[in-house]
Amino acid sequence: MQPERIPLIEFKNVSKHYDSHAAVSELNLTIYRGEFFVLVGGSGSGKSTTLRMINALTEPTDGNVYFNGRRIKDYDIRPLRHRIGYVLQQIALFPTMTVAQNIELMPDILGWGKAERKARINELLELVGLPPAQYRRRYPHELSGGEQQRVGILRAIAAKPDILLMDEPFSALDPLARASLQETVSLIHKKLGTTIVFVTHDMGEALKLACRIGVMQHGRLLQVATPQDIQNHPADDYVRSLFSAAQTNDNAASVIAAFTQLDETEKAEVRAALALGITRDA
Ligand SMILES: Nc1ncnc2c1ncn2[C@@H]1O[C@H](COP(=O)(O)OP(=O)(O)O)[C@@H](O)[C@H]1O
Ligand SMILES: [Mg+2]
Repeated sequence: MQPERIPLIEFKNVSKHYDSHAAVSELNLTIYRGEFFVLVGGSGSGKSTTLRMINALTEPTDGNVYFNGRRIKDYDIRPLRHRIGYVLQQIALFPTMTVAQNIELMPDILGWGKAERKARINELLELVGLPPAQYRRRYPHELSGGEQQRVGILRAIAAKPDILLMDEPFSALDPLARASLQETVSLIHKKLGTTIVFVTHDMGEALKLACRIGVMQHGRLLQVATPQDIQNHPADDYVRSLFSAAQTNDNAASVIAAFTQLDETEKAEVRAALALGITRDA
């Protein structure tokens, strides 16, 4: 998909210091409307700090972040946050509220009518494969982890925000739920055209989801490129090393995928062969 090249978020010479430590250094980055932008990097590389400067949870020490051409610090924070969806790793659904009540929270705050809210809840639940008749009235504890995170995403996009920020949203899920949620968020991006900024430490996940990837290390942006360009022309050895790790994960995933395609006899043969190998090596 070719994103429209209208800037939505701009970082201009942005740094964030904690005492003498630089969490983010001299960041220059433009994220375009409709884009699925993925920030990838190791722990402590400055990804969350960068994300939190978009919704004004963190204020830059130097430089400015712009939202729709205007400095974030010149906005009223509450209405600004209403236009920004935010999803974190730990699911923060309200336990005493139903799925429907959780989803309609922001539309309700913004004064949407009841019929409009109900239509939105149904549309969103259907979009992510949770039949409304079955799920509207359930409570969070009656959902799997993956389903809870689906509802968390729906809550974040319910009031049609200008941008959706996601900070390692699938890191706590098992590999199957994670793959399924990746499909869901791709679908949301395609169907609703939401601008997404997604943080992950997993290059495989970045390659799968992104229009463009930004690689961070030690608070600096090392490279910004499409998944294809970044794979073909990694800026340095560090970026290259992130791919070899992703490659290994992909191989493991393709072995599992191939195995699940086998019939029971073939599976038994593979199991026997692997066990034999282990016996021989031991
Ligand atoms: N509130 C804070 N106070 C002090 N140091 C912080 C704070 N938030 C983040 N840092 C530091 O800034 C660096 C970047 O953190 P963060 O953006 O959370 O990284 P990431 O999300 O890539 O793991 C880390 O060294 C972290 O310890
Ligand atoms: Mg983080």
